[in-house]
Amino acid sequence: MASTQNEKSDFRYNTGAAKVPWDAVAVKPDADLVKAVVRFLVQEGSDAPAYAAALRKVEKAVGELFKVGRPASKLSLGQNVAAVEDLAKTMLGVRYASFLVNWTAGYDIALDMAGVKPGDEVIIPAITFIATAAPVLRKGAGVVFADVDRQTVNMDPADVARKITPRTRAIVPVHIGGYPVDMDPIMELARSRGIAVIEDAAHGFGGTYKGRKLGTIGDFGAYSFHEVKNITALGEGGILVTNDALGAQFPMARFCGFDLATPPPPTWLYNVSPVQARHGTFVAGNYSTTEIQAVALLQQMQRNDEILAARRRVARYLYEKLIRVRGLIPGPIDSADYGGTCHLFLLRVDPGVIRGGIQALKAKLAERGVTQIAHFCPLYHYRLFEELGYNRRALQQSCPMAEQVFFEEYTHLPLYDLPAESIDYMADSVTAAAQELAQ
Ligand SMILES: Cc1ncc(COP(=O)(O)O)c(C=O)c1O
Repeated sequence: MASTQNEKSDFRYNTGAAKVPWDAVAVKPDADLVKAVVRFLVQEGSDAPAYAAALRKVEKAVGELFKVGRPASKLSLGQNVAAVEDLAKTMLGVRYASFLVNWTAGYDIALDMAGVKPGDEVIIPAITFIATAAPVLRKGAGVVFADVDRQTVNMDPADVARKITPRTRAIVPVHIGGYPVDMDPIMELARSRGIAVIEDAAHGFGGTYKGRKLGTIGDFGAYSFHEVKNITALGEGGILVTNDALGAQFPMARFCGFDLATPPPPTWLYNVSPVQARHGTFVAGNYSTTEIQAVALLQQMQRNDEILAARRRVARYLYEKLIRVRGLIPGPIDSADYGGTCHLFLLRVDPGVIRGGIQALKAKLAERGVTQIAHFCPLYHYRLFEELGYNRRALQQSCPMAEQVFFEEYTHLPLYDLPAESIDYMADSVTAAAQELAQ
């Protein structure tokens, strides 16, 4: 179904049995292009002569393959993109899914569909990546920062309740590190006031909250497949999902408002329409994805359960080791209601025990060569917000927990496919650093 829709969404491929179909004018992949891609994807390792020998064999084989095969001729928005969307719908149990260039593109569409306009307010957590704020600001709307929960560093629903105003158009819970936000109170607040919920599930693909998939609980949800995520679409990619009927327009919203349901202007091939939102309409951008990204993402989506299981094993292992150390507060880890994706491992310290708090611990870890991924500073510290007239001091006062956890208590440890020795080295280094600083 999605496949037919996608192929139809591009008139150039509806040439049927034409003598000169559109793909006759495309520059097709040839053996040299494939070899260049292989050389990029599999780069020289420590044994240069062995690499050169193996590469020669592969390049010869690619040449052979071209003698008997035919080059791919549909490179954008084709059957593989549709297959990603079909698989996402099945895996997530959701009505509509659109594979786009990145999470931010999906969020942009969700904000438009939710009817976010200049002067509106969107509540986001103080601690997140800048992409949760920037598209809101680009629309001329304002962000309102909700404070975070100390245990999870996720949005605190009680503070969201305090920060709702008549101008609040959307609430954006962010499942930081893939650990689920407590969604029930947020959904209740939003539903009772007609406010849209857009889940930032950039880290959350495959995670669950009370048996429901992260990203499918709010009105819209988006996932990121950027290169640092659990799975990637060759560097960049995102999926936007919804159960709302507005999702039927995702193909239009992703590709220039291209409208094949409306008759085209006389003598022309297609029409272009505004996209319907909750309130009014909007003009679409172009966030189309390529087939090669889809091929890569499909392969990884199929392995997602296995990848998640491996991450969960490492997370539990780290948790068991670190929970015994005085002054360290690892996790939380999974429970019956909270099934995270273990994208990042949250580590907090008790600053009453660890002298100098998290900053001192991080300095000690750096001396031991342990990488940390502490990239989520409360956003209002960025110059951007000052320039836009946001009052940093007032925001710091309105988000006291975000201030405390960021400056004194939390960091993230990496959970990716590290060798067992590196995991042990990391756990032992954290333990030793904590013991040196314990008072
Ligand atoms: C919490 C969060 N939201 C959104 C994004 C943006 O995702 P993308 O780079 O796919 O647009 C990221 C990316 O790293 C993220 O960490």
